Amino acid sequence: MDTTAKQEEWLASIAAAADAGALAAVEKRLLGPKGEVLELVRSVTALPKDERPAFGKAANLVKQAVEAALAAARERFADSALKSELEATDFDPTEPGPRRARGTLHPITIVQNELVDLFRSMGFREADGPEVESEYFNFDALNIPGDHPARESQDTFWLDDDNLLRTHTSPVQVRTMLRLSKHGFEPPLRVIVPGRCFRSETVDKTHEHTFYQMEGLVVDRGVSVANLIHTMKTCLRVILERDLQVRLRPGFFPFVEPGFELDVNCPFCAGKGCSVCKQSGWIEILPCGMVHPHVLREGGIDPEEFTGFAFGMGLQRVVMLRYGIDDIRQFMGGDLRFLQQFAEVPR
Ligand code: PHE
Repeated sequence: MDTTAKQEEWLASIAAAADAGALAAVEKRLLGPKGEVLELVRSVTALPKDERPAFGKAANLVKQAVEAALAAARERFADSALKSELEATDFDPTEPGPRRARGTLHPITIVQNELVDLFRSMGFREADGPEVESEYFNFDALNIPGDHPARESQDTFWLDDDNLLRTHTSPVQVRTMLRLSKHGFEPPLRVIVPGRCFRSETVDKTHEHTFYQMEGLVVDRGVSVANLIHTMKTCLRVILERDLQVRLRPGFFPFVEPGFELDVNCPFCAGKGCSVCKQSGWIEILPCGMVHPHVLREGGIDPEEFTGFAFGMGLQRVVMLRYGIDDIRQFMGGDLRFLQQFAEVPR
C-alpha cells in the first residue's frame, strides 16, 4: 500500500476541516476505534514477514504526522475561538490590570517612627509592655495606691478584679527597671516606650478613649531637671520642626517628684493667643518629672544612688500640633481622605 499517498489524503482532510466540529469528525474517522490510520498500522500483519519492518516503520511515521497535524489544527481552532470570544466583548487584554490599593502610614505612626529614630540617636532603646496590664503595674508600683484620688483621673476599662487596659505607658517604667535589676544590671538606663493606652473618657475634640503615648525614662547617677529640659527641648524642636520656647509648671503625678507640665509656646500664633492655645499663648504638651524614689525602689533600683527623669508624651497631641489638626477623632475615624494626606501614596 502506498503510505505516502494515504498520508497526503489524510493531511488534506485535516486541513479542510472548517471548524472544531468538523475536525473532531475527521479525528474520529482517522484515529477512532476503527480509524483508518489504525487500520493502516494494523495491516502490517497481512504482509509477508520480510516486508513487515519497512512497512511498520512507514505506517508509524504516517500516524505521527496525522497526530501532529490534528494537534496543530486543534490549537488553531482554540486560538480563533478565543479571539472571536474576545472580539465579542469589549475586553481589552492589553490594558494594564487594576492597581492594588496600597495603604499609607498613619500620621501617628509617621511621627512615632521619627521620635523613635530621634531617641535612638540619643542613646535610648525601645521597650514594650502589655496593653492588658495588672493593677499593680498600672497603679500601685507607680505610687498610686487603691484609695488615691489620682486613680479617678485615669478611669479605665477593667477586665476583672486585677487586670485592666493600661491607662498610660508608665507601667513599662517599672517593668523595664525590674527586668534589668533582676539580672543584676545597673543603670544607666535610657528607654522609650511607644504604645497604645485606654481610658474611659467621654470622646470629644481633644479626648479619645484609645490613644497613643510615648513614655521616656532615664536613670543614672546624677540625672537632673536640667537633663530633662534639654532632652524635651531637643525632642520638640526636631518633631515640630522649629525652635519653640518651653516653660515648666508644677504638675502632679504620684510617680514623679517634682512633677511638671511642660508647655510650648503656641506655634500657631507665636504666643500671641489664638483658639488653639485657648488665648493663653501656651500649649500643654508634655507631662514629666523626676522619677519618684518609690518607683525606683519598685524597679529594684537604689534611689540613694540613682536618680532619673520620666516623661509621657501624648502622641496625638504632638501629631495635631505638627500638622495643624484640630480634632482628635480624625485619627480613628477611618476616613481615607484624611489619612492619605500625610504620606505620598506608594505606587
Ligand atoms: N503617665 C502620665 C499620664 O499619662 C504622664 C507622665 C509620664 C507624667 C511620666 C510624668 C512622667 O498622665
